[in-house]
Amino acid sequence: MTQDQLKDAVAAAAIDEIQPWLERDTVLGIGTGSTANRFIDRLGRLRHDFKGAVASSEASAERLRGQGIEVFELNDVGSIPFYIDGADEVNAHLHMIKGGGAALTREKIVAACAERFICIADASKRVECLGAFPLPVEVIPMARSYLARELVKLGAHPVYREGVVTDNGNQIIDCHDFMIDDPVAMEARLNAIVGVVTNGLFAARGADVLLLGGDTGVVRST
Ligand code: 5RP
Repeated sequence: MTQDQLKDAVAAAAIDEIQPWLERDTVLGIGTGSTANRFIDRLGRLRHDFKGAVASSEASAERLRGQGIEVFELNDVGSIPFYIDGADEVNAHLHMIKGGGAALTREKIVAACAERFICIADASKRVECLGAFPLPVEVIPMARSYLARELVKLGAHPVYREGVVTDNGNQIIDCHDFMIDDPVAMEARLNAIVGVVTNGLFAARGADVLLLGGDTGVVRST
């Protein structure tokens, strides 16, 4: 199967996962990226079975509206039973690196509000150790050079993602050559540096369910 077919398969599996729980007042949390887009496109068929969604990016909000799904501000929503999103890397503990699409901060906020995080990914995203994918860090623009120096001290090779401005008006530094032995500790350490808005480690709050698409089908793990 191609990577696109695997993304379709996990998007379909996520629909199966949530469909029995949808109620007229359900608001879903929706991620960002090509895998999340496939999920959004399938979710459109169920739009009359739930109330709407909170999006983790302007791009996902627009796509949701295109499917006839109402998009709510997070501040106007109570509980979110499910957050569905892709990942750039995921390990056996369901810790992830996210933010390849620069949406990490809103993704982490919406995920924090959700009762269950369902990660949908093709098998290429499954790793033993997080860090082969450059770890994104969203930064306040005036702190960028300072933060690059601090990230070097931690052993990373920081690269400014030129031309990218996040939905929050900030910038992204990608940490290359940065294998992460303890994702929970590193997530907290990076967040503690002044000028960091968010880092792309989703470990303190990892996924609750992983739907991983491979050649033998979709494997569900918790
Ligand atoms: C965006 C993300 C995405 O979930 C991540 O980049 C995976 O994207 P894709 O499904 O396109 O591989 O974190 O900020």
